[in-house]
Amino acid sequence: MTARLFLLVLIALTTCSCGSPLRADAIDSLGEEQGELPSEFHRPGQPCVLCHSAAGGVDPILSIGGTLFFESTDGTEAKEALFPAAGFAVVVIDSEGQERQMLSNDCGNFYALEKDFKPVYPLATEIRNESGAVTNKMVSRIGRSGSCGSCHLEQKSPQSPGVVRVADAKPDDKPNCPIPRFLKP
Ligand code: HEC
Ligand code: HEC
Repeated sequence: MTARLFLLVLIALTTCSCGSPLRADAIDSLGEEQGELPSEFHRPGQPCVLCHSAAGGVDPILSIGGTLFFESTDGTEAKEALFPAAGFAVVVIDSEGQERQMLSNDCGNFYALEKDFKPVYPLATEIRNESGAVTNKMVSRIGRSGSCGSCHLEQKSPQSPGVVRVADAKPDDKPNCPIPRFLKP
């Protein structure tokens, strides 16, 4: 390459304020937007806060974000068959006792805006149904990631607890939502 071009590339590389290359690779691996415009229903299963953070550069800035699915019957459900769980409360309790409830929307997504909830780690979390009964509870504490999808990847494996699943009855009709795509473990 010419000296001039080399200089331009050098300037671009050294002045870039983008996040770490690792984060950029992870974001790229999540793929393009699926069909519609980005919305609260998009990218189910993905690590929301990776993008929705100062380092990720996407507004709104979220402190917590993730997606709920129903239990599979055989434990090996294909991504296409994952059934979003709407209308459940995800409860997060931080180490100072601050509690936040987030209701999962029609595609199972839930989130908290950082301006409303800035948790102090580690966090405890559990899922409650409409009548307030706990359906599932995470035994260990979340050390620092606000994205449930940074650990909860499909399939269940020694590296992942599987997606966040709700042990409750599924409705008959599956909502029309993007097919989940996960972070590469
Ligand atoms: C790969 C990056 C990425 C991931 C992962 C991601 N988002 Fe987004 N999200 C975006 C972008 C880009 C926008 C559009 C922002 C804009 O319009 O300025 C957006 C927009 C949004 C909005 C605002 C929609 C509106 O109507 O203004 C919400 C809410 C949202 N995302 C929630 C989530 C949730 C919940 C998750 C995880 C389940 C998630 N996002 C995962 C990139 C991402
Ligand atoms: C640091 C990795 C990590 C993050 C981040 C994480 N989890 Fe977990 N989660 C796990 C592991 C590992 C398990 C299995 C062992 C346990 O329960 O502690 C688990 C288990 C669970 C369970 C119980 C599963 C069952 O089958 O009943 C629920 C519910 C849960 N997590 C919800 C969440 C929610 C909601 C978030 C985001 C707010 C989240 N987790 C973020 C690692 C994580």
